[in-house]
This record gives sequence, C-alpha cells and structure tokens, in this order.
Amino acid sequence: MAKVYVTRSISEDGIELLKKKGFQVDINPENKVLSKDELKKSIAGYDGLLCLLTDKIDGEVLDAAGKQLKIVANYAVGYDNIDVRAANERKIFVSNTPGVLTEAVAEHTFALLMAVAKRIAEADKFVRNGKYTQWEPKGFLGPQIWGKTIGIVGLGRIGSFVTQIAHGGFNMEVLYYDVKKNEEFEMRFSAKYKNLPGLLGQSDFVTIHVPLLPETHHLIGAKELGTMKQTAILINTSRGPVIDEVALVEALKSKKIAGAGLDVYEHEPDLTPGLSELPNVVLTPHTASATNEARSAMSRIAAENIIAALEGKQPPNLVK
Ligand code: GLV
Ligand code: GLV
Repeated sequence: MAKVYVTRSISEDGIELLKKKGFQVDINPENKVLSKDELKKSIAGYDGLLCLLTDKIDGEVLDAAGKQLKIVANYAVGYDNIDVRAANERKIFVSNTPGVLTEAVAEHTFALLMAVAKRIAEADKFVRNGKYTQWEPKGFLGPQIWGKTIGIVGLGRIGSFVTQIAHGGFNMEVLYYDVKKNEEFEMRFSAKYKNLPGLLGQSDFVTIHVPLLPETHHLIGAKELGTMKQTAILINTSRGPVIDEVALVEALKSKKIAGAGLDVYEHEPDLTPGLSELPNVVLTPHTASATNEARSAMSRIAAENIIAALEGKQPPNLVK
C-alpha cells in the first residue's frame, strides 16, 4: 500500500480522496511546523509528501525520505520553499496548486488596498479604544480609490485578476510590468506596459504578484521605494523577500510612501523591527488564500497530483 505523509492538518477534501484510493495517509499530529530534523524523521519511507509553504524541502530532506518518494505536492501556488532541481535530479515530481486561489488572493489584495486607503485598521482601533467622542470633519482622511492608477507588478493569474477587479470595479487605470508584454490584456483592460521605474513613478497603488526567484529577491528596495509617489500605497500578497523590508520600514517612517498592506514578510513569521508600530500599514498573517473555497480546492488539487504520481502518471500541476 502506498503511503502519503501530510506535514500539517489541512482541509479534509484531499485527505478523503487519498484515503478513497486506499493509500495510507499519516498527518503530523502536532499543530505546529516541523523542524528540519522532525521533517526528515517523519517522512522516511513515504511514497508521497503533501507539504506546506512553511516546509523547506531540500536535497537533504528528500534523501531522508528515501528512494521510494515519487512526489512532493505543495499546498500552495508558490513553491520557492522547494528545491525543485534537487527533486528533479532524484526523479521526484513537484506540484503546486495554481488556479484555485486566484480569486481569494486577488480579493485579499483588494481588502488590504482598501483597508490601507480607508484606514480601516487605525479607525477600528480608535473606536474600540473609546476615542470616538465626536464626528471629525478632518479625521481619518485618505485617498479615494475610484479612477486612480494601479501598478501591477507581475501579470500572472493573480495579477490579471486584480486588474479585472481594479478596472471593472473601481474604474482604475492599469499599468503593468512583467518579463513579458501581453497585448490582449492591454486591449481588454486599456492597460499600459511600463518598465519598473516607470510603473513605480506613476502609480497611486502598487501591488506585487511575482513569484520569489533569485531575480525577484528585493525587487523593491530603497531605490525603487524612492521612485514611488509620496502618496502611494504598496501592497504585497506574493512573497515577503520580494521587498527589502528594512528599506520599506524606513520609507514608511520617513513618509517616502504613504502606506503599505502586507500579507507576507521577508523573515516570516518574524517582522522587521518597527513595522508593527507604524500606523500606516495593515498586516495580515499570510491569509490571502484563506477562503473555505480556496483551501478546500488546494487540498483536493494537492491530492490529485499525488494520486497521479503514485499511479505512475504525470501529475497535472507539475512544476519544473
Ligand atoms: C500562498 O502563499 C501560496 O503560494 O499558495
Ligand atoms: C499565481 O497563481 C499567478 O500566476 O499569479
């Protein structure tokens, strides 16, 4: 009987699919991320591994699993936590969960954008702290979103869906930067292609949707923040290390930009000192994909990839 190890308790949908196939499914019983040593011990002898973005899967971990391991299925669309080359060298498939969390992450991107612009977190704290004693004509002013310019950095599925919300819902002008131009997209959303400095200099809202790669590490640093408008708001729901967080704290403190909404952090779950003291940021704990719908579908997709691999087929969401 094939054996699958799941590194944390996840939505049941996928677990049920795996069990229906007759696989033995073992789930980490602890409600915590496994250390590297725990991970190496836990996965020894398994044929399939269902892991999370918090599990660092490198060659050493793969070797600890053993030669029978056929697939590492990541419960995420991003897979920068996995050394894909090390897996491929060992003839182990790697899969992710694209497509099913696009809407959830795009919605969260807008939730953060609106929360920062409308100062929702600050205002909520103000009311809770009993400070709402009279209506203020100049209290909690912020920018309107309707008709403003949004800069989309990374035009994958999520960046495109954010564009759809921005253009259709808020009449925003869309600028985008990506390694590739997309003319059909430009026509559909009257979007304009810009290089990164051009996009940063002209956008009222900048939102990041690139994967974490060596080329995107610190894509947004002190120099890039310096080219943004002083009134601009930066949103990141991709991966923390795409932004130099020390430079971001500095830019927010010195009011080089107006605010930020972050779901991911450079040294997650740790925060750069000073970040949480800033009033003009809204912070969420990497919950952009946390809808019931997305998390169930991610579980199902991860399981389907494992089933394919263990039945000797190519997983549908293979990454290389
Ligand atoms: C979440 O961050 C994901 O990559 O799915
Ligand atoms: C990820 O799903 C992306 O393509 O943006």
